[in-house]
Amino acid sequence: MQSFENKTAVVTGGASGMGFAMASVFAREGMNVVLADVEKGALREAVARIEAMGVEAIGVPTDVSSEAEMDHLGDVVRSRFGVPDVLCLNAGVAGGGGPSHNLTTKDWKWAIDVNLYGVIQGLRVFLGGMRERDSGDIVMTASVAGLTSFPGSLPYNATKHAVVGIAETLFSELADAGSRVAVHCLCPGLVSTNIIRSERNRPKELQNPGKGATGMDPGVQTMIEGVFASAKPPAEVAELVFAAIVNRRFWIQTDEFFRASIKARHRAIENDEDPPARGSLLSVYS
Ligand SMILES: NC(=O)c1ccc[n+]([C@@H]2O[C@H](COP(=O)([O-])OP(=O)(O)OC[C@H]3O[C@@H](n4cnc5c(N)ncnc54)[C@H](O)[C@@H]3O)[C@@H](O)[C@H]2O)c1
Repeated sequence: MQSFENKTAVVTGGASGMGFAMASVFAREGMNVVLADVEKGALREAVARIEAMGVEAIGVPTDVSSEAEMDHLGDVVRSRFGVPDVLCLNAGVAGGGGPSHNLTTKDWKWAIDVNLYGVIQGLRVFLGGMRERDSGDIVMTASVAGLTSFPGSLPYNATKHAVVGIAETLFSELADAGSRVAVHCLCPGLVSTNIIRSERNRPKELQNPGKGATGMDPGVQTMIEGVFASAKPPAEVAELVFAAIVNRRFWIQTDEFFRASIKARHRAIENDEDPPARGSLLSVYS
């Protein structure tokens, strides 16, 4: 059986939600863990909880959209642990919802910076070393929003479609090269995390004047919080990720709710038909 003992996992967005849950599973398996996150207080707490599991854990305050901070993360990881064995490019935000004509450049920039550029930076910093060593697993957190095209969250959908494209392309590139580095594309449905409170991490310069702290109508926020509270626990997703690493599976889909929507989209493409998604991602649950 494959051993994870004393290997190293790096998880971006590791201070909360699915990132923290993945880190906890890796620690349970005896891996040392590097957590990178922009939220410093949550990062400190997360590191303490992972350390209490008896492995080495370090937290590196990192904004994944910053080239310099991602370079620093790479330097810290390499000097402390060497080339990572598992790399989870997971940090993400639910930036910019509502009708597309109301979106601002700031909404677009924030979503692209974190969800897309963060993944690009992660590959730039770590992929070369993993390819040279010819081993390791790269888990990219996309979303069912990257496999469907529901209205209501255009920047999020666009960035997650891009992450799916990156994961698929990288998988094929590595397969062509005969590389043993594995790629996994995590496409969760709704998971009970802090994603609906993403605005907490929106940089000041990308905030829209006049919109509240959440950027969302309070009634809509309450309704969405209710749906997310009863969604899948992140720990279950983390177990699916671990199983995919063990079994070298590319796709990691977390529930059955969206299968029909994904199939409908693919059927429409094959048959030259109009896009079928209506309502919102959340309407699939009602
Ligand atoms: N929760 C869901 O329903 C769901 C569904 C599909 C995909 N996802 C994706 O899962 C990933 C993890 O999100 P989550 O649901 O666990 O939410 P979360 O908010 O609980 O965790 C996201 C983490 O990313 C961090 N982060 C935000 N901006 C950052 C930045 N610029 N640099 C570094 N870290 C940053 C946050 O501080 C937080 O710790 C995201 O990519 C998200 O898009 C979530």
